[in-house]
Amino acid sequence: MTQATSSHRSPVTGTAVASKRRRLFLLDLYSTAVGKKYVMAITGIALMGFVLTHMIGNLKMYLGASELNHYARFLEELFYPIAPHGVALWILRGGLLAMLVLHLHAAYSLTVLNRRARPVKYQSARDFQIATFASRTMRWSGMIALAFITWHLLDLTFGVVNENVGAKDAEGLKDVYGNVVFSLQRVPVAIFYVIANVLLGIHLFHGAWSIFQSLGWNNPRFNKLRRSFATAFAAIIVIGNVSFPVAVLAGVVGN
Ligand code: HEM
Repeated sequence: MTQATSSHRSPVTGTAVASKRRRLFLLDLYSTAVGKKYVMAITGIALMGFVLTHMIGNLKMYLGASELNHYARFLEELFYPIAPHGVALWILRGGLLAMLVLHLHAAYSLTVLNRRARPVKYQSARDFQIATFASRTMRWSGMIALAFITWHLLDLTFGVVNENVGAKDAEGLKDVYGNVVFSLQRVPVAIFYVIANVLLGIHLFHGAWSIFQSLGWNNPRFNKLRRSFATAFAAIIVIGNVSFPVAVLAGVVGN
């Protein structure tokens, strides 16, 4: 990689598109494939952290309505009274959105970069043999995960497709438990949750595996460990998330 000097810095090399204008170092780095992969990996780690925390938090529904509703209240009260009511949660939401947007942008621009580098498809099927099923479906599984998040927010956060949103429980708390039950008692919605979360699991499996590659920690000696980590992470998320619609339909969670 080219050394940066204080007076005259040349652009980061690799697949960089050399620019005549001087740009911020981070923007310069982001114009390269390596930079975009770093962004994919770092934002991917943050999103994985969210998905894991969210799933663990949702497990509270097995303890009953009061526990889940108090947990939602706790999130709204995060850092209160140091921060005003709800502010820390909005900051976290903003951070999450920024991570998602950056992840999507890096994915899109990496695809454009790859297409430019290889406008003609491979003639043989060899690359497909090397690539796993998960890696080949990254774009599709990612887009379905995005469609799921859109529905999920319209359903449980904004209540556009959920009549229960806005209701209070016996303690006067937001009835998050009732919202989840209302949502997942609808069989097509429950089925969509199961399918979307299995696809999300495939996406997470390949993502968790790729992080190490993107960050350059890809010594073959650790391949077994990487595979175990990716498998365990994806399995934990899928089992946890799929259990919720199943539990509601089975009547384990509900009125
Ligand atoms: C079956 C699995 C899931 C259940 C039962 C569930 C449940 C919920 C509930 C109840 C809320 C609203 C919380 C509130 O009103 O305080 C929520 C919000 C949210 N969920 Fe999920 N969720 C699941 C899976 C997922 C997955 C897989 C993702 C991401 C890939 C996700 C992303 C989000 C986001 C971004 C929000 C908005 C957070 C906020 O505004 O504070 N959820 N979820």
